[in-house]
Amino acid sequence: MGQIAPSILSADFTKIAEAVQMAEDAGGDVIHIDIMDGHFVPNLTFGPQLVSSLRNKTSLPLDVHLMIDNPRSFIPLFAEAGADWISIHVEASVHLHKDITLIKENGKKAGLALNPATPLLLIEEILEELDFVLLMTVNPGWGGQEFIESCHSKISNLKKWIRDQKLQIPIEIDGGVNLSNMEELIKDGADILVAGSAVFGEKNPREALTKMKGLVRKTG
Ligand code: DX5
Ligand code: ZN
Repeated sequence: MGQIAPSILSADFTKIAEAVQMAEDAGGDVIHIDIMDGHFVPNLTFGPQLVSSLRNKTSLPLDVHLMIDNPRSFIPLFAEAGADWISIHVEASVHLHKDITLIKENGKKAGLALNPATPLLLIEEILEELDFVLLMTVNPGWGGQEFIESCHSKISNLKKWIRDQKLQIPIEIDGGVNLSNMEELIKDGADILVAGSAVFGEKNPREALTKMKGLVRKTG
């Protein structure tokens, strides 16, 4: 069954711990934490300290999405801080194999993230080493953007590729996910749906997340 990863990027930053606890209570499966460095993306967010502060506020896995240049130098810091999943961007790492290996050596689930215009071909040689693939379905940097429609076929192509190779690698979809497109995304082959503004941008985030979970259960 599909999973929902509420993204705290759209939460009230003065109440992040409460947002995480609500997300857990309402059935969120993992907590998505967006790390931005002002270089790889034109925005700044959090560092390892936030991850370590949240570590004892939830029993859910912490899914740390590194939208940063030179991810290698930060992998051990986020691992130490308590991240459970760490994804780095294909576009930000020259030595993908080395960096993915470093995440695994730190005992964490290793993911590769691809921007919307980055071809799947770039991960062909490393696919079987990955614990998950994160497909960006907006250009990274902000929450609340519109889903880029051409990404549907990228999701189904990746799913087919994974199945044909008899691999079990979950596909995480990040950007513009909402109640109206999630069923289609699951049909495309999405396994984990990141939801930022669709949860925390709503008047009643708990109700929004509960609805999303209900739809995931129905879709199977
Ligand atoms: C965007 C981030 C996303 C963001 C998604 O750069 O990687 O995780 O939180 O936000 P929504 O769900 O609002 O598109
Ligand atoms: Zn993200």
